[in-house]
Amino acid sequence: MPPRPKPQSLASEHTPFAVRRRLQRSPSASYLHDFIYGAVDGAVTTFAVVAGVAGANLDETVVIILGGANLIADGFSMAASNFLGSRAERQQREQARREEQLHIRFVPEGEREEIRQIFAAKGFEGDELERVVEVITSDAELWTDTMMSEELGFGSTEPNEYRAALATLAAFLLVGFLPLLMLAHELERSEVERAAQNHRNEAIALAALFAGLDARDSYTGRHSEAVVELAAQVTRELGMPQSFVAEVKQVALLHDVGKIGIPDAILGKPGPLDETEWELMHEHPIIGAGIVASIEPLAHLAPAVRAEHERCDGKGYPDGLSGEQIPLASRITLVCDAHHAMLSSRPYRAAMQPAAAVAELRDNAGTQFDPEVVDALLSIVAP
Ligand SMILES: [Fe+2]
Repeated sequence: MPPRPKPQSLASEHTPFAVRRRLQRSPSASYLHDFIYGAVDGAVTTFAVVAGVAGANLDETVVIILGGANLIADGFSMAASNFLGSRAERQQREQARREEQLHIRFVPEGEREEIRQIFAAKGFEGDELERVVEVITSDAELWTDTMMSEELGFGSTEPNEYRAALATLAAFLLVGFLPLLMLAHELERSEVERAAQNHRNEAIALAALFAGLDARDSYTGRHSEAVVELAAQVTRELGMPQSFVAEVKQVALLHDVGKIGIPDAILGKPGPLDETEWELMHEHPIIGAGIVASIEPLAHLAPAVRAEHERCDGKGYPDGLSGEQIPLASRITLVCDAHHAMLSSRPYRAAMQPAAAVAELRDNAGTQFDPEVVDALLSIVAP
């Protein structure tokens, strides 16, 4: 229910001055009808496109392209048809006005009689009626206007076809855009959810795999954990983005996971390995990459796990890659792995002094190790 106006404001709107001012303003045309016409079609057709594409399981870019094409093509055709319709209406009105002016000119008595009957029907009679007829028919414009509205039923405002078309187009675009916005919002939400779910799956798989390695060989487990933090620091030092730091941490944690497949006699041997044993030991990056590749959330890490023992000079294993052929995550992990191993004591050798480890890394930068990675690590451990 519309709010009831206050009696004071109603009275102020009906003083002789307010009434005169209101009537002097010619009434403005309303384009509400044109707006609703565009809005309804804009909403319905874009919803139909979105629903059709979603139902057919097509890519979201198809929705954006089809939705956008619909907005432009259908929106413009709606506006054009409203433009033509409004122009035809205006031309019909002008035609009727011309005919009425001809009637007044050629059969004024007949037209005067029409005015008389129109106002008699409104309750005028006798001298009063004749006075009204006299006033109206003495002004050709007023006479024509009266015939247009009273006899032919035209409204007092004349709509503009350009504004009508613009109202339809604006409404079509505004309202038609809403389903696309809703879809974009929905896609963004599901994308965020999917990323979060992937992240959870990755963390679960990583934890399960690492628990297996740790149970099989606790030294390798502890050593891998220690390498993770150093590898993260080195990656940050190299100016890499946070997403890559996360990936390097995963590679560092899993770099030796292939040792799960190495026989106990080799893995736990208290002395140095012989040639055959080394050959078997050198299989661990291949075994590790195979394990990682078979676990879907971690499969993208397999190439870096496989290349963790490749050397910059191409003399590493298993594929003899060199320089930038080796994934950066592998190059970082190798340097951090070597540094931590040098500082750890093993049953068959004592731990190195930190200064000796630094010298060893420097000596092998450019041959075994990526020199930039060595520089980054040294700026952290030996600033
Ligand atoms: Fe390794």
